[in-house]
Amino acid sequence: MSPQVSGGKVAIHFEGEPGDTRTVTYADLQEQVNKAANVLTDLGVRAGDRVAIYLPMIPEAAISMLACARIGAVHSVVFGGFSAEALRSRIDDAEAKLVITADGGYRRGSPAVLKPAVDEAVAQCPSVDNVLVVRRTGQEVAWTDKDLWWHETVDAASPDHSAEAFDSEHPLFILYTSGTTGKPKGILHTTGGYLTQTAYTHYNVFDLKDGDVYWCTADVGWVTGHSYIVYGPLANGATQVMYEGTPDTPHKGRWWEIVQKYGVSLLYTAPTAIRTFMKWGNDIPAQFDLSSLRLLGSVGEPINPEAWIWYRDHIGGGDVPIVDTWWQTETGAMMISPLPGVTACKPGSAMRPLPGISADVVDDMGEPVGPGGGGYLVLSKPWPAMLRGIWGDDQRYKDTYWLRWPQYYFAGDGAKYDQDGAIWLLGRVDDVMNVSGHRISTTEVESALVSHPLVAEAAVVGATDEMTGQGIVAFVILRSDMQAGDDAVAQLRQHVSQEIGPIAKPRQIMLVAELPKTRSGKIMRRLLRDVAEHRSLGDVTTLADPAVMNLISEGLSHGDD
Ligand code: PRX
Repeated sequence: MSPQVSGGKVAIHFEGEPGDTRTVTYADLQEQVNKAANVLTDLGVRAGDRVAIYLPMIPEAAISMLACARIGAVHSVVFGGFSAEALRSRIDDAEAKLVITADGGYRRGSPAVLKPAVDEAVAQCPSVDNVLVVRRTGQEVAWTDKDLWWHETVDAASPDHSAEAFDSEHPLFILYTSGTTGKPKGILHTTGGYLTQTAYTHYNVFDLKDGDVYWCTADVGWVTGHSYIVYGPLANGATQVMYEGTPDTPHKGRWWEIVQKYGVSLLYTAPTAIRTFMKWGNDIPAQFDLSSLRLLGSVGEPINPEAWIWYRDHIGGGDVPIVDTWWQTETGAMMISPLPGVTACKPGSAMRPLPGISADVVDDMGEPVGPGGGGYLVLSKPWPAMLRGIWGDDQRYKDTYWLRWPQYYFAGDGAKYDQDGAIWLLGRVDDVMNVSGHRISTTEVESALVSHPLVAEAAVVGATDEMTGQGIVAFVILRSDMQAGDDAVAQLRQHVSQEIGPIAKPRQIMLVAELPKTRSGKIMRRLLRDVAEHRSLGDVTTLADPAVMNLISEGLSHGDD
């Protein structure tokens, strides 16, 4: 399936946010991976050991992941936008031995720091022996006796390294994702099946040809970056673009300038980005030559038909195929997607399971709903890139995916089948929010809020948001014995950002006197969602105290941020 790749072929066209570039050929990539593998081995990293990777979007991210794979170490990439505390809990859960990071990276026109968060986290993580630091920005960084510079170790290492062979079920990586409890779960993937399905789907769903220039705009910190920047495309010998920064730096046409500059033919991005470009206006992409694009992909959240059509018309010149790919961190690779040239598409539908994949839509009893019905999306047969468990928590694995119906993998998404058998994804049915294609659990944000001394109780819901799919809305009861200043809401938003990361900052925090609870004490999120989405309230008869909802609706006008 994969083409024979010569070492001179470009693997990565790297574009830094400030405009610096690097061209990494397959021969360069192999040399860098070999050198990094030698350094990891010298540092005592052995097959099965865990390595945390906390890097910006620079080639060293892919090199580090592949160096781990080469020696059988298990990588755990932590998104560079996560806080020191989020990094600490992930390093700790996996008991990582080594952390690979950078002094910082470029974001929104200036260097952002990464190393201080690592220092803070590592100080509390006894498992970490060393920290390998890439110099990206040249900022001054504090130094400890565990730290080593990448350019002093990897650059000086031998380029010779013999790849070791491992069983196809050897663990490849852990990737933390939000579940319905406060603690993120470490999704475990292994090698053989994962690589087979990522390479197969990357090749067929993108209809990859030898001359293609592919660009996936995700960050390597998410599963999309793992499967469709690192493993799938590189296994297929593809040439790809890797971009470090934000889409509006230094101007709102930066992405389209990159497409024009490198002749990008396959683009894979998220609906939130597409909706943002729609808002910025048609005249921005119109200033660039986008004629190289021949296929567009979407991932991470449901794509609304308006965004689908705009994407095809204004980015794809009106006639390119669009592949809306449904999958998850747990599935490891694409599961439901059109195949270009094979599947007739409907704007907004991911269409059908890919060959070899068995998906169904079932009702509460687990009965298939059939055409025209709606219910829960399930996967009814195993698949090669399937998660192999939750790191260190077998019980949680069983409870999360197999408790509801033992014969099905429960994806956590609502879906409907239309009369033609096309599948429409309707978003999460559990306490997981999807903000700009990022999974964040309501309980994770609630835990962050209640860890602040001002907060007595908190309830969080995801409310529909025109731009980001969902926005985080928090209802907070302050402690009566604490003096809250006028800036309490701002303080709490900042606190969540520090505890989890800026992506988890609530869009809105409402200070309320009570929360709606059932007689058994369960918070009725459905009602809170009604308030957050400015809908008239549904059935309140099961509330212990129906008058509470009046108080909350009042809070809407006072606590609005
Ligand atoms: O709700 C679905 C949504 O994203 C969730 C998985 O999130 P994560 O594990 O972070 O992986 C995202 C990238 C694969 C799913 O449960 N989702 C993902 N792709 C789509 C989608 N919802 C609708 N349409 C999609 N194409």
